[in-house]
Amino acid sequence: MKATNLINQKNILVTGGAGYIGTHTLVELLSSGCQVVVIDNLSNASREALRRVEIITGKTVPFIKGDIRDRILLRSAFQGYEIDAVIHFAGLKSVNESVEEPLNYYDNNVTGSLALIEVMSEFGCKSLVFSSSAAVYGDPANVPVNERDSLSPTTPYASSKLMVENILRHVHVSDPAWSIAILRYFNPVGAHVSGLIGEAPNGMPSNLMPYVSQVAHGKYQKLKVYGDDYDTPDGTGVRDYIHVSDLASGHTAALEKLFCSSLSTDLGVMLTLNLGTGRGYSVLEVIDAFQKASGRLIEYEVVERRPGDAAKSFADTSLALDLLGWTAKHDINRMCEDAWRWQSMNPEGFESDK
Ligand code: NAD
Ligand code: UD1
Repeated sequence: MKATNLINQKNILVTGGAGYIGTHTLVELLSSGCQVVVIDNLSNASREALRRVEIITGKTVPFIKGDIRDRILLRSAFQGYEIDAVIHFAGLKSVNESVEEPLNYYDNNVTGSLALIEVMSEFGCKSLVFSSSAAVYGDPANVPVNERDSLSPTTPYASSKLMVENILRHVHVSDPAWSIAILRYFNPVGAHVSGLIGEAPNGMPSNLMPYVSQVAHGKYQKLKVYGDDYDTPDGTGVRDYIHVSDLASGHTAALEKLFCSSLSTDLGVMLTLNLGTGRGYSVLEVIDAFQKASGRLIEYEVVERRPGDAAKSFADTSLALDLLGWTAKHDINRMCEDAWRWQSMNPEGFESDK
């Protein structure tokens, strides 16, 4: 067990806990001595993922299948468990889909968050960690991006994240007893070292790393590299890829901070933090690292730029280091090794075990 003691024995409600980042965070929470309960409607996840978390940790994961927009269901969770804090992952995350179905995205991400915040308030639970995204910065004017830089969401998905951020800031102003950490993730990739849990996209992946994994595995013949004429060292897009297990430990660090603040004062804290590594890698560097990790050739062709893509985006991570003492540990090679282990062990994701 880790030397995290403020979160030890705390009851954490994890919305969207059956998903990619949720399952990795459950592993961190359980190995830090927390008790957890998960609410997930399984719209983008499998029950099997939670069973795998139980195998990794040797602990039980209580699970409520349902939707966070269902206030009655949320109340039953708060009645059944003495929840100390919530980590709120539940939401829809496909940028392209959000352009096609904006109302569905606002409903899930914004209405869902409102229902959650209201029910938390009813039960006097005022500690919350919220999954936001670097997408709120849009195409950043400067890199590294810091939390005070201008926000310019360009899609319904990004806009829904910023709306929830703003709601949470207003909630904190209206009742400063709330302790809230808004975490803006850069590009989460990789998988748990066991190879038992990882990212299982539905259909053809739109993000780079899962697509590269599937090319290495032979499911797709070649990767399309979206443009090699950006103002970057090799002309391809640069991103801040962060190992999902590092991201998960950022959540336990944020929870520690929330509980620590409530020890010394009745006032809560309001934090907005980037979670990234602070280092950018180009598409070609990712391909190279993945080839080394997998021993497979990744075929690719350069095509037109993808509309809406930024040339480069990577985080200024100094605030998370200052306030949480947290920093990412795994490099791009390790991200690719773990992604490849997950891909090789689970070519159909969790499907084959449903
Ligand atoms: P995911 O889709 O794997 O996990 C989200 C989970 O929430 C899924 O298990 C899904 O079934 C569940 N869910 C969705 N809507 C729900 C609802 N209304 N009620 C109950 N459950 C619901 O996604 P992820 O990659 O684990 O992302 C988690 C969070 O982090 C999301 O809010 C996402 O927007 C945010 N985020 C993700 C990334 C990324 O690249 N993965 C980047 C930035 C931010
Ligand atoms: C995308 C979303 C962003 C979201 C993030 C995580 C867009 C414009 N942005 O970010 O809002 O928060 O996913 O879900 O959709 N690439 C290729 N070929 C591919 C796929 C990607 O060359 O098949 C390139 C992209 O041009 C980019 C890099 O790889 O330079 C990373 O792409 P991706 O993994 O989709 O992440 P983002 O674009 O950063």
